[in-house]
Amino acid sequence: MNKVVLVTGANSGIGLALCERLLTQDTEGVQLCLACRNMQRAQAARSALLASHPTAQVALLQMDTSSITSVFKAAQEIKLRYNRLDYLYLNAGIMPNPQFDVTAFFKGLFSRKIITMFATGEGILTQTDRITPDGRQEVFATNLFGHFLLIRELEPILCHAGRTSQLIWTSSSNAHRSAFNLEDIQHQKGTQPYSSSKYASDLLSLALNTHYNKQGLYSSVICPGFVMTNLTYRILPSFPAFLWTLLMPIFWLIRVFTNMFTLTPYNGAEALFWLFQQKPESLDPYAKYHSLTSALSNNYTQPQKMDIDLETSEALYEKLLQLESEERRKVKEKQKPSQHFHSNRAGPLSS
Ligand SMILES: NC(=O)c1ccc[n+]([C@@H]2O[C@H](COP(=O)([O-])OP(=O)(O)OC[C@H]3O[C@@H](n4cnc5c(N)ncnc54)[C@H](OP(=O)(O)O)[C@@H]3O)[C@@H](O)[C@H]2O)c1
Repeated sequence: MNKVVLVTGANSGIGLALCERLLTQDTEGVQLCLACRNMQRAQAARSALLASHPTAQVALLQMDTSSITSVFKAAQEIKLRYNRLDYLYLNAGIMPNPQFDVTAFFKGLFSRKIITMFATGEGILTQTDRITPDGRQEVFATNLFGHFLLIRELEPILCHAGRTSQLIWTSSSNAHRSAFNLEDIQHQKGTQPYSSSKYASDLLSLALNTHYNKQGLYSSVICPGFVMTNLTYRILPSFPAFLWTLLMPIFWLIRVFTNMFTLTPYNGAEALFWLFQQKPESLDPYAKYHSLTSALSNNYTQPQKMDIDLETSEALYEKLLQLESEERRKVKEKQKPSQHFHSNRAGPLSS
């Protein structure tokens, strides 16, 4: 039977590389759905995939994970198209207006943390977040909350007796407990919304396992390593392309010291692809699965224990459920006929 696979943020970078790898492994056995906010870029990605796999089944779906209405609408559409979903890759993500802290970088260069700094960006990246039209912090909404609502909406086609489905989050090694605050899950007050959102996805994955494993739904998180994609190029937007090219040999050299410099989207998608082939029951809910590339350019996946705990993961889950109820209430309010409409109707009837 075909595996139905939906990938968010599939029109570029790691998401697109995953799609390419899935089709290369089994063109006929996979039914792909690319869920993207920009349909022009999605169409280009679909054409590229079909160029190398002409017989593949590749569908497109418009979805902006930062918009509640868009997520609900997309979920309805998915439920109309598919009666089951085997894999849901929660990959769309943003790191808006990243600022590179040069002072912290040079300090890091001469400290013991040098490798960690290069591998995880810890301490050297801050971002300026903004508010979505729904009134939520954009990074939280895009990277975490939109995906959470999508899972909740797709529950009927993700949970089926007698078979398993997988949720697979593209997290990051930049997910730090220190950036996350349970009293401020949207990260309204800090300067590291990206790190906070990724830490929250690690926590949420654990909670999803607690609540859904009995129904056959399993959740895992991966880190793709440091990959050259649109997201990373935006860290230094004024950097001309040729300087990135000049930096590449240095990046290759760093790979001798850290296998987290996966660099290409193909390598970065290693753990996403590896998880596709695993029995979800055999996976560790406390592990983050890392895409790694050795100095000799061999790709492999390695689990590492996450710095998460059940209590915090449950507390976050509860808060997300509360936010979900708020959003559902708002949607209902919008759908209610207005007072004005009622009084107009009441008029002729009462006369
Ligand atoms: N690159 C790295 O080194 C690295 C490291 C750790 C984790 N990650 C994670 O890897 C994932 C993929 O990123 P990437 O590196 O491959 O960068 P990318 O090429 O920029 O891919 C990000 C994808 O997310 C989509 N996206 C962004 N906001 C969206 C929204 N509101 N609704 C729907 N789709 C949206 C983008 O679509 P558009 O084309 O419309 O913008 C794009 O397809 C992200 O979650 C990122 O945080 C990357």
